[in-house]
Amino acid sequence: MSERLEVVTIDGPSGVGKSTVSRMVAAKLGFTYLDTGAMYRAVALKSRLAGIDIDDESAMRLILSSLDMQLLPAASVDADVQVILDGINVTDQIRTQEISMLASAVSALKPVRDVLTGKQQEMGRQGRVVAEGRDTGTVVFPGAAWKFYLDAAPEERARRRAEQMRKKGQEVDEREILAQIIKRDRDDSERTIAPLKAAPDAVYIDSTAIGPDEVIGLVLEAVRNK
Ligand code: DC
Repeated sequence: MSERLEVVTIDGPSGVGKSTVSRMVAAKLGFTYLDTGAMYRAVALKSRLAGIDIDDESAMRLILSSLDMQLLPAASVDADVQVILDGINVTDQIRTQEISMLASAVSALKPVRDVLTGKQQEMGRQGRVVAEGRDTGTVVFPGAAWKFYLDAAPEERARRRAEQMRKKGQEVDEREILAQIIKRDRDDSERTIAPLKAAPDAVYIDSTAIGPDEVIGLVLEAVRNK
């Protein structure tokens, strides 16, 4: 496996099941799970709590220079990674709809990407990491040994998200969810810095018609065979 970094990257659009797959793959391999999206969400929350306009570059630079953020292992394999921001556990606070939309906007800003990409590279330097995001195979870890790009039709992603929400007892407008998914896809893939796209050497997996267990099996097989 020569000089390639012992890192698995899993990129793809929102709602494609990357988190479920990444967590399970990390658990099976005994690697650390690195949720890069959680870091963008934490910066979004910090700017929201500080009440600043994210287009105010000097204010954003202040936020970034005083960023005190830690990612701790999730309580269980099906829970989100725990995020500690300025000493406070914000694991749930970063998962609201408002912060999702703000994280998408924040993630298009170059100073934010520069700082977070540096932190992610530092976290992956020792290897044995499963990194999940949008640009982990293209920008953060171009030298990763195993790269995957998960995709699924937007309608199927909207259907899955709606089902998840219904299970939590939330009211659901599936057409609205689909519209948001399409908007986030467009914003994430059309931005100029680190857009969402598959690395040329990534294994492309379309999960429209297959479940998470099958995707996890495909990923583990590819990792073990290379
Ligand atoms: O994966 P997620 O939904 O938690 O990500 C939150 C936002 O951060 C999403 O709009 C895309 C952005 N993001 C990014 O631009 N680059 C990454 N490596 C991870 C997430």
